[in-house]
Amino acid sequence: MVDQLPKPDVPRLITVANQKGGVGKTTSSVNLAAGLAVNGAKVLVVDLDPQGNASTALGVAHTSGTISSYELLIGEATAEQAVQQSTAGDSIFCIPATIDLAGAEIELVSLVRREYRLHDALRASGFLDEHGFDYVIIDCPPSLGLLTINAMTAVDEVLIPIQCEYYALEGVGQLLNNISMIRQHLNTNLHISAILLTMFDARTKLSEQVATEVRAHFGDVVLGTMIPRSVKVSEAPGYGQTVLTYEPLSRGAIAYFAAAQEFASRGDYQPVESTGPIGVSPETAKQLESER
Ligand SMILES: Nc1ncnc2c1ncn2[C@@H]1O[C@H](COP(=O)(O)OP(=O)(O)OP(=O)(O)O)[C@@H](O)[C@H]1O
Ligand SMILES: [Mg+2]
Repeated sequence: MVDQLPKPDVPRLITVANQKGGVGKTTSSVNLAAGLAVNGAKVLVVDLDPQGNASTALGVAHTSGTISSYELLIGEATAEQAVQQSTAGDSIFCIPATIDLAGAEIELVSLVRREYRLHDALRASGFLDEHGFDYVIIDCPPSLGLLTINAMTAVDEVLIPIQCEYYALEGVGQLLNNISMIRQHLNTNLHISAILLTMFDARTKLSEQVATEVRAHFGDVVLGTMIPRSVKVSEAPGYGQTVLTYEPLSRGAIAYFAAAQEFASRGDYQPVESTGPIGVSPETAKQLESER
């Protein structure tokens, strides 16, 4: 299973975002990281959510006071000081989040380059080059505040998990508008490179309907692999593990592994010109916005 995929020529930085809560951002961040690492890549996960769920799943220390993404953003520590080896694999690393991050949205407001603090700490510092990371995955909180903006200015790619549920597209129009705005004003390279359908339940018509609708709206940017709803996926973090180590042969583990392979092998997905920079036509974006 190891070394099946070529590594990217340049590091790929991906923000996992959706301001809707509980759609599978964290689950996807850590399990895609694990899937990419199984393929031989060196992966860094940056936990930008004060809940610290990605840190838990990756088995890294994140009690209050641990050097974390909070110190990084505030400028009290370097990435080198904050990074920890994950228990999920030799080539998985994590900059954890602690509850201290909860106050950062406000503290950041008065700091210089407040929208670029993460960019500066990760990219401008030379940290990524020194370590030779192939992928950097940033797990966002369920909001569109300064933490998420910092995540969006630090990367080129956005991955949006969408849960196969009622109101799956709720808020997605707003998310697209924010991405457009950030692209216009703060980071011209930003684009959606993947949409991942999560918690797919093959027994319900609804899941199928949502999947069809999302594919109709977004086209090829949606990964072919869908993540099934599986109890093993939700159990794994309780053991400080990803589902790939917790239950490697479970449907959830196999799906995340396949999603990581698909994501890696198709490379950075650039939407075709006619659909616009964010992967959907302006009409679709408008329509989603009005459905909100
Ligand atoms: N494929 C799945 N099968 C079953 N449960 C899942 C699956 N994916 C995620 N879950 C569960 O759903 C809940 C929400 O997932 P997760 O924490 O990844 O979402 P999130 O978008 O990061 O949430 P938040 O917005 O709070 O950060 C968790 O309890 C998680 O264990
Ligand atoms: Mg989360």
